[in-house]
Amino acid sequence: MVALHLDDLKQYSDVLRAKNGSEVKVRFVEPRDREELQSYIRSLSAGSRYNRFLGALSELPKTELERFIHVGEADRFTVVATMLVDGFETIVGEARYAFHADNSSVEFGLSIDDRWQGNGIGKALLRNLECRAASFGAARIFGDTLRSNATMIGLARKLGYAFSQSPGDWKLVRFVKEIHVEPQDIPCASWRLAATSRSAAMSSLAV
Ligand SMILES: CC(C)(COP(=O)(O)OP(=O)(O)OC[C@H]1O[C@@H](n2cnc3c(N)ncnc32)[C@H](O)[C@@H]1OP(=O)(O)O)[C@@H](O)C(=O)NCCC(=O)NCCS
Repeated sequence: MVALHLDDLKQYSDVLRAKNGSEVKVRFVEPRDREELQSYIRSLSAGSRYNRFLGALSELPKTELERFIHVGEADRFTVVATMLVDGFETIVGEARYAFHADNSSVEFGLSIDDRWQGNGIGKALLRNLECRAASFGAARIFGDTLRSNATMIGLARKLGYAFSQSPGDWKLVRFVKEIHVEPQDIPCASWRLAATSRSAAMSSLAV
């Protein structure tokens, strides 16, 4: 894989739409977001936090918060979804994804603020993660969720994921989607650009 530097990556933010047409921006988390990201996690309902982190926690442990903030370390990335609320850019969702080069897959977890759930933001964010996975050249994208998480399972079903037993934990179900898209066909502009520059860099290395 040709490394993309964080300074390059910062330019790749995306604008998504909620069901009612409201604008939702997706961008990499930055150190200035540290406190707001932690407040966002604290403000999730206990059920949403449990579903997101597969266990009971009230906030991100300090070391985990630092991992979240350091985008790109060990091929792990955090994005925040933000909306303008009363004129302020406000975090309404987050997602973390990891690129596993050994099996060419991207693994992810995501959450949407309880007040904004059911407005199509999760669906738009997951589609955006699929674009990001395609830009790495990944062959598949997957996540694990609790068998009881009907909303995540419904969302994954809607977007065409296949389901299987999650290895090693009977309480979890794995949802997987194969990615068959050429860099030039990636359906989100910024990540199409990232993928085409990555393949251009790789072919120039091959000369
Ligand atoms: C799961 C989650 C990310 C979904 O985000 P969302 O913004 O609420 O979802 P959307 O509004 O985009 O819904 C997308 C689709 O999910 C499905 N869905 C939504 N709510 C559902 C429910 N209660 N039961 C079954 N399916 C449901 C529907 O198919 C829906 O599409 P439709 O509205 O066109 O019918 C969000 O509920 C969340 O943050 N939950 C807590 C954390 C979590 O569970 N994370 C997943 C860990 S991997």
